[in-house]
Amino acid sequence: MAEIDGVAYLGAGTKTLDEMILGKAAQHVTDLAQLTALRADPLDRATARSAHEILRRHHHPAFDPLTRGRSTAFPASHVEMHMRAHGGAMPAAGEVGRGDVKTSPLWHAAAKMPFQRWYCDGSFQGTFPLMASSMELALDQSFDKLATSVLPTIQADFKSVIQHLRPPRYPYPVDASLAAKGKALLESDKLGCATCHGTYDGQGNIRWTGLHTEVGTDPDRMEIVNAGFTAAFNGSPIAKEGQLSRSKGYAATPLTGVWANFPYLHNGSVPTLYHLLGPASERPGVFSVLAARKLDKPKVGQALNPEMPATQARDKAHLLRAHGDDRDWFNTRRLGNGNQGHDFWSRIASDDNRWALIEYLKTL
Ligand code: HEC
Repeated sequence: MAEIDGVAYLGAGTKTLDEMILGKAAQHVTDLAQLTALRADPLDRATARSAHEILRRHHHPAFDPLTRGRSTAFPASHVEMHMRAHGGAMPAAGEVGRGDVKTSPLWHAAAKMPFQRWYCDGSFQGTFPLMASSMELALDQSFDKLATSVLPTIQADFKSVIQHLRPPRYPYPVDASLAAKGKALLESDKLGCATCHGTYDGQGNIRWTGLHTEVGTDPDRMEIVNAGFTAAFNGSPIAKEGQLSRSKGYAATPLTGVWANFPYLHNGSVPTLYHLLGPASERPGVFSVLAARKLDKPKVGQALNPEMPATQARDKAHLLRAHGDDRDWFNTRRLGNGNQGHDFWSRIASDDNRWALIEYLKTL
């Protein structure tokens, strides 16, 4: 779920949740010392002790995303599989790698289904996105139990609900004639957007290309699919359900509901469509993550640095000094957070074209 302008959108990936704080809080509240103070009853104490032990034993530094609102779910799967293959031992941090990403919206599942390639890089291929199931291992289930109980449940949920989800409509007025101009541009040979991203019926459906390709964006997330991860995956029971092999590029993201899928690119490094469709050199280097609760209507995407005097909000050196080390702020200098690539400004060529494309993207 994501909150945008006070409305909760089902299926939109979270934009602000801090997984690191959540993990720490869970460890804290299951800590027996805390519970003694609360005089919890014996059953609660036993449950808390067991939960605390699992949380502690399964924690790895590569689990914690470097920024609030980003996730490392894929490395988490990696660690769990690696532990199984190594008699329950943790891999070293360097063996896992990083690759913080934003959470994809569930309505992308409909577009991806025919291609059976999942997640932002498409390295995992199978009938449904089952890497998520390995997270269930953190509940201390055995792999064999996972294969017989958890996988069928996830598959059933996927078939009955998730593949039918469509994106929410853009909730504000749209300029129809400007959007029509944008549609013609997006589908034109000169811009080539549709060659990669497919075509759209305006009802939340897409004729997707299934393309995964290199457009110069940050490579770190793709590179976590290393030899160790692949070997650990192949030795696990879920290898029966799919394959893992490093992709040659990120998915040419389905653009259904793209107005709500900000900040943009797989790592959420570009706050608005306006910045994504302009020259890469003009994209902001530091911006507030919590500001993602508000839509920037003209530029389509998240507000940048609200509640700050305009002169400071535009002062790059000030922003870096004041917020560069703050995990509540996105800093493109962090590992895996680069905002480079996908620069089609030489084809888009004018602000008129940029605004028309943005208007059309609101309608998908
Ligand atoms: C060569 C193929 C290609 C072309 C041409 C292309 N894109 Fe993309 N686009 C991609 C890929 C690949 C990504 C994902 C990159 C990443 O996540 O690192 C992407 C990402 C995006 C995103 C971010 C979506 C999100 O939810 O984060 C938008 C918006 C977008 N493209 C719009 C456009 C528009 C508009 C055009 C035409 C001006 C265009 N693209 C041209 C391949 C392409």
